[in-house]
Amino acid sequence: MFDKISYIGETSLYVDLTPGVEIKSNILSSHVVIQDNEKMILGEISELDKTKVKIKLMGEFHDGKLFGGILRKPLMDATIRPVNDEEISIILGENTESGLLLGQSPFYNGKPVYFNINDFYSNHFSIFGNSGSGKSCGMARLIQNTFLNQKVKPVNANFFVFDVSGEYSRAFSNINEINPAYHYRVFTTSETNQGFEELHIPLWLLNSNDLALLLQCSSHTQLPIIERMLHLARCFAENNEISIAYKDHLIAKAIISVLFSDSTPVRKKNDIFSIVETCSTDHFNLEATIAGVGYTRKFRECFNIDKLGTFTEGILFTNYVSQFVNEKFDNYEAQGLTYFTLSDLEKALDFTLISEGWYKNENTYGDSVTVKVRLHSIVTGPYSKIFNCNTRYDLPQFLSSLLYKGSEKCQIVNINLDDMDDAIAGVITKILSRMIFDFSKTIPNRGSIPFHILVEEAHRYIKNDTDHFLIGYNIFERIAKEGRKYGVILGVISQRPVEVSDTVVSQCSNFLIFKTNHPVDEEYIRKMIPNISNDIVDKQKGLQSGTCLAFGTAFKIPAIVKLEMPNPPPLSNNADLLKYWGGQQ
Ligand SMILES: Nc1ncnc2c1ncn2[C@@H]1O[C@H](COP(=O)(O)OP(=O)(O)OP(=O)(O)O)[C@@H](O)[C@H]1O
Ligand SMILES: [Mg+2]
Repeated sequence: MFDKISYIGETSLYVDLTPGVEIKSNILSSHVVIQDNEKMILGEISELDKTKVKIKLMGEFHDGKLFGGILRKPLMDATIRPVNDEEISIILGENTESGLLLGQSPFYNGKPVYFNINDFYSNHFSIFGNSGSGKSCGMARLIQNTFLNQKVKPVNANFFVFDVSGEYSRAFSNINEINPAYHYRVFTTSETNQGFEELHIPLWLLNSNDLALLLQCSSHTQLPIIERMLHLARCFAENNEISIAYKDHLIAKAIISVLFSDSTPVRKKNDIFSIVETCSTDHFNLEATIAGVGYTRKFRECFNIDKLGTFTEGILFTNYVSQFVNEKFDNYEAQGLTYFTLSDLEKALDFTLISEGWYKNENTYGDSVTVKVRLHSIVTGPYSKIFNCNTRYDLPQFLSSLLYKGSEKCQIVNINLDDMDDAIAGVITKILSRMIFDFSKTIPNRGSIPFHILVEEAHRYIKNDTDHFLIGYNIFERIAKEGRKYGVILGVISQRPVEVSDTVVSQCSNFLIFKTNHPVDEEYIRKMIPNISNDIVDKQKGLQSGTCLAFGTAFKIPAIVKLEMPNPPPLSNNADLLKYWGGQQ
């Protein structure tokens, strides 16, 4: 069928077809071997006309292995032949100890396609495609195959699935039948929790950046408020001699700054009462006894106002308060982990805003009120229960509590976020991912506890948002850049790659691209993904649901792969209009 090479270019060559030979099967996209006396090169037929074919150079065979890329071009007298069975197996990946089944090759009569487990799962990966193209089913099948694999049993795997549409709840429900050591659990925040476990995140494990995102901060002025609030919540939660003395010091300083401000006496009194209402100690509360020479007054009695408009017990009170100011406390930090609730946090915020005069400055008033209103709406709203955690976990204990059900190790943890609005679901995903990443950085033997963070509908969360402007980084970009070293791997699933953060996509090493029609997304894939050629991008346009183009470091060459339908499938079917429009339930 193939005659002589007529032209060799940088990445492809042209071969004349033998005159008179009829081409029976569709040879477009099939593979050939270009062999001269020094080497064997793998090519793919990319164009075909009556007299010649264009062959794209894909890789070189050495000692029965295929290496992507071409160092040396074939000689002009090289012969061209279709690949044989043995070579097809090499191209599609082999069922070796490290090989994992992805699906079947429609080009090669359903031959299985394998990829290298390490090359795939130790790097970030992306799954892209139109709605309904098979991403969620593909994701579910990929994980199911990982657990069905009998060669490498992932008993120590830690997959966190952030399931915004609640699709995966049943998809992994039977992994325990594959191996009794495999366990799966679903956490939810929904009221109708369908038998799933409730998600509770320890508030004290949040850092000030997490709180800034949770409170949807929009200006840098709000950050010091958040930092101070967190600092105070931690300090107020301590209950020892030093922390009580520190509280007295803080209250005393706050009261003195009010006393010496230019407010009216009535306003001063209100501010001082507000301070002791938000934070009180034995020395500072409305009923505290203040002793003068030969007489005593209650704290609240010191604020009667005389004819001159001054506090009747101003001197007594000022002397009393001043004795608690102790400059050695100015850089005090809470010792170790302290435990506090949302209402403690709210008190710490009130104390910050009143004692530091945030409300008095017209430039900061608006920002202060916004933070206060947002925190209050969380405290009183439906999401407060997420932060209602009764057990005093530190970070490793908290992550263990998600990954262990008693003594059972759960390899897949589904965080079902389908009842939340987008903004809060995004923040929860970020907070938990940040905690996983921070924990991984503390493990002495780097990467020895690998975590896989799988984010569905990633364009909603892993996007170019305001995090950079506000807190200086986006956690997913940080994980994309640094996570691999610590064994924290992102799996990004999205219909709109163009809306996913560029930094994250550019750090992915493997891709499963299902049918993608949107021209902007197609163009984006062409530009963003390293080593992808135009032919590859064009190929995915005609794919059926459940068939993807798989390529990256775990695959020998870009391959079209038909994935088997997952069993059980995710809850992602199209609505059955014939059934429901007709009125059946
Ligand atoms: N491997 C497969 N084999 C056969 N059919 C499939 C396969 N994968 C998906 N499908 C069909 O496509 C439908 C949609 O698949 P899926 O929910 O995975 O799409 P999706 O890309 O995740 O869509 P969305 O972006 O809307 O979440 C499935 O309900 C199923 O009917
Ligand atoms: Mg989906």
